[in-house]
Amino acid sequence: MKSEIIIHNSVSLDNSLTGFMPDMGLHYKIAGDYKPDAHLIGSKTIIKGNEMFGEGIPDELPSDFEQPQRDKFLPWWIIVDSGGRLKGMLHTCRRFEYCRDVVILVSEGTPADYLLHLKERNYNFIIAGKEKVDLVMAVYMLKEKYGITRILTDTGRVLGNVLLNLGIVDEISLLVHPIMVGEKSYPMFSEVTADLKLKLKKSEQFENGCVWMVYST
Ligand SMILES: NC(=O)c1ccc[n+]([C@@H]2O[C@H](COP(=O)([O-])OP(=O)(O)OC[C@H]3O[C@@H](n4cnc5c(N)ncnc54)[C@H](OP(=O)(O)O)[C@@H]3O)[C@@H](O)[C@H]2O)c1
Repeated sequence: MKSEIIIHNSVSLDNSLTGFMPDMGLHYKIAGDYKPDAHLIGSKTIIKGNEMFGEGIPDELPSDFEQPQRDKFLPWWIIVDSGGRLKGMLHTCRRFEYCRDVVILVSEGTPADYLLHLKERNYNFIIAGKEKVDLVMAVYMLKEKYGITRILTDTGRVLGNVLLNLGIVDEISLLVHPIMVGEKSYPMFSEVTADLKLKLKKSEQFENGCVWMVYST
């Protein structure tokens, strides 16, 4: 059985991923209702999330070097980071109480000092691909190694569009907010080159003016 990949994003009416404050409660309620085995997240999204919602990067504690022992039903956080951008920052993710633990996707080109950094902190990681992560291979390895078969990705345009161009996305879940970002918009699909035929599977409107639309590919 092939793994299922769902892209879930909040967008403005003019399809921007940024430049407005999404209804985070609703965004994560919908994400959680998918009951994913894992969230797949880009390294830039982690950095931006820390800037927006974090309070700086706290010093590491001895407990940050250990794998958390949490409920086995919690989703993993799978983070793509072949360049080691998140060195020194991963404990902000591992500390998140609704994350089972973090698994890092790296490549053969990942700097050796980053791999050492991961090993010293007992992070699980998967090496797939030469320079950038080979996401098809990584998704297969996640299934084989961790039994992950449903992946929800609430990431930014870059990783989302790479997944769409690879043709491995099963569903697009869009929470459209009643707001225009206009000239500063960061359009969600502007790097898609694949010829995708979509089918509207579901739509629902909420009292706050948001509309949730789900398309299958
Ligand atoms: N509205 C929403 O729902 C929502 C959700 C999430 C994020 N965002 C916004 O999106 C922005 C961040 O997103 P972003 O679009 O800059 O980046 P992103 O989605 O975080 O994507 C960057 C990731 O893509 C990976 N990548 C790039 N090219 C690749 C390739 N060819 N093969 C495999 N992996 C590849 C990179 O891997 P390496 O690290 O290995 O290079 C990196 O992990 C932020 O402003 C954030 O606020 C919005």
